Amino acid sequence: MKIAWGISGAGHLLVESVEVVERLKKKHEIKVFLSSAGEEVARIYGVLERIGDFPLVRESRQGHAFPSCGSFNLGKYDLFVISPATSNTVAKIRLGISDSLLSCCASQALKTKVPLVVVPTDSKPVVETKGPNGDVFKLYPRKVDLDHIRALKEEGVIVLEHPYEVEKILKRFL
Ligand SMILES: Cc1cc2nc3c(=O)[nH]c(=O)nc-3n(C[C@H](O)[C@H](O)[C@H](O)COP(=O)(O)O)c2cc1C
Repeated sequence: MKIAWGISGAGHLLVESVEVVERLKKKHEIKVFLSSAGEEVARIYGVLERIGDFPLVRESRQGHAFPSCGSFNLGKYDLFVISPATSNTVAKIRLGISDSLLSCCASQALKTKVPLVVVPTDSKPVVETKGPNGDVFKLYPRKVDLDHIRALKEEGVIVLEHPYEVEKILKRFL
C-alpha cells in the first residue's frame, strides 16, 4: 500500500507513532509529512533523527501553498494517516482551514476521496501522557476539541485512539 503519514507537533503518542511507521516501512511504501511544530517537538522528544530516515516532506522547507499536497489529488496514496494529530490540526481539518502542511494535505485527501485516519492527542475527557523527560501528567481536553473529533467521525474520517490500531485496520483498505 502507498501510505502518507502526517506527524504534527504533539508529544503525546509521538514515539509510538514513529515505531508504527518504522514497522510499516518494511511492508509498505510510506512517506512522512512533518509539520514545523512536529519537527520541533520530535527534536525535544529525541526522535527527529529516526524520522529523518523516512522518505520525508518537511513543512519547514515548503512554500506557503504546500505543493506537496498536490500528490493527494494525483492518486499517489491509498491512505492518509495523521498520528499524532494535535488539537490544532484536528480543529483546522474539521473547520475546513488548510493553511498548514497537514491541514492542506487532509483537505486535498478528503476532496479526492483518499481515506483519512486521525489519531488525535485530545481524544477523550482525560488523557494521561508523558513529557519528554518521562514525567507522567494528565490533560483534560476541552469540549471544543471533543466536538471536533465527533464531527470528523460524522464526516467519515476514521478516528483511532492509538497509533498501534492503524496496523490492525490496514486490511480494510487492501
Ligand atoms: C513539547 C511539546 C509537546 C506538545 N504536545 C502537544 C500534544 O500532545 N497535543 C497538542 O494538541 N499540542 C501539543 N503541543 C502544541 C503544538 O505543538 C502546537 O499547538 C502547534 O502549533 C501545533 O502545530 P501543528 O498542528 O501544525 O503541528 C506541544 C508542544 C510542545 C512544545
